[in-house]
Amino acid sequence: MKVLSIETSCDETAVSIVEAEGDFPHATYQILGNALFSQVDIHREYGGVFPSVAKREHTKTLIPMLEKALEEADLLHEATRELLLSEHETVSETLQREPKLEAGLTAFLEHHARPDIDLIAVTNGPGLEPALWVGINLARSLAQLWDIPVIPIDHMEGHIIASVFNGEKVPDLTFPALALLISGGHTELVGMQTWGSYQVIGQTRDDAVGEAFDKTARMLGLPYPGGPEISKLAGIAREKNMSQYVALPRPMLDSGDFDFSFSGLKTAVLYATRDKTLSDDDRASVACEFEAAITEVLLTKTVAAVEEHGAKTLILGGGVSANTHIRKTFGGYFKREHPELTLYLPDPKLTTDNSVMIALAGHARSTEALTPNLTSNIKASGNQTLTERV
Ligand code: KG4
Ligand code: ZN
Repeated sequence: MKVLSIETSCDETAVSIVEAEGDFPHATYQILGNALFSQVDIHREYGGVFPSVAKREHTKTLIPMLEKALEEADLLHEATRELLLSEHETVSETLQREPKLEAGLTAFLEHHARPDIDLIAVTNGPGLEPALWVGINLARSLAQLWDIPVIPIDHMEGHIIASVFNGEKVPDLTFPALALLISGGHTELVGMQTWGSYQVIGQTRDDAVGEAFDKTARMLGLPYPGGPEISKLAGIAREKNMSQYVALPRPMLDSGDFDFSFSGLKTAVLYATRDKTLSDDDRASVACEFEAAITEVLLTKTVAAVEEHGAKTLILGGGVSANTHIRKTFGGYFKREHPELTLYLPDPKLTTDNSVMIALAGHARSTEALTPNLTSNIKASGNQTLTERV
């Protein structure tokens, strides 16, 4: 089965083609094509992601990414018979709100024949709704034109699968499993009884971890996205064993539940730095203490959740799980204290947003893809949670 996947939930425009042999979770996968355009340079100018800017950029870049992925997969063939959009009423209807995408798709169809694809998978949430709609409208149009099924995929389920994927297979997980999902939009502890059965047992009450990294970075005069920048500075401070500029709080460490709160931490950084002239070393020290505070809270809550839920598998996922300090701290702790538990950390290439993870999740849910009328029912769902998805 060849799955074409589309991801436009935030600031990455991504299209992949993944071939699966066998049934989930015992299939073997081959990534045939993987095209990704990061809008980060555009958003850096504004200091963050604005939904309307993200939508505009997805509209511009999505068809070129589709062509690139198909070409890489050797599936881009010249048209023998033109598929005309105007002949497809339903497609025209779908694209009514995306005139620029319609123009690009028309040009694409003039030149390219229907590729050998069996299923389309598209992120439908959570994320920025205007951005999500671009991917959904293209996915629905292609499914109608090519007469193949399309399935909506939860972005967070994609992150979970990406974390355990070893480049070829999804390993056999021992359940119950626990996933700590940390990204620009989410901070969640999710219990998994099996694939597809999720229970959100804790989440942030305000900022997501990635958001806290990005906002703190901005206060320290660092560019967007702030996570990697803070991590770099923190590494320097740790290496040089710098003296501590400020002690930051560990919010909700002893709250007795699995929820998080990071806005207070951000405010503490604000109080410690505003109206002050910080040296480079001071800034590095703040970055280091901030990273330490975040890591301690994440680890403490996760350990408590692992112990209470008897988790045999722990999965770290989402963009922030690219953080070296978090990876090392979790790796070291669980190896020492819970050697019986298997910890999965995502391959750095699949840690931040990508569409390979959406193709894998699409294959996992391919039986569901045959539900009648699914195509016309796919809607962007900005605040969707994994629990609702079941
Ligand atoms: O999963 P992702 O690519 O997009 C969302 O779904 O939100 O995550 C992006 C977030 C950003 O906030 C970014 O600053 C953060 O992940 N991030 C990091 C690192 N790399 C990316 N945070 C801390 N350390 C990193 N090395
Ligand atoms: Zn993400």
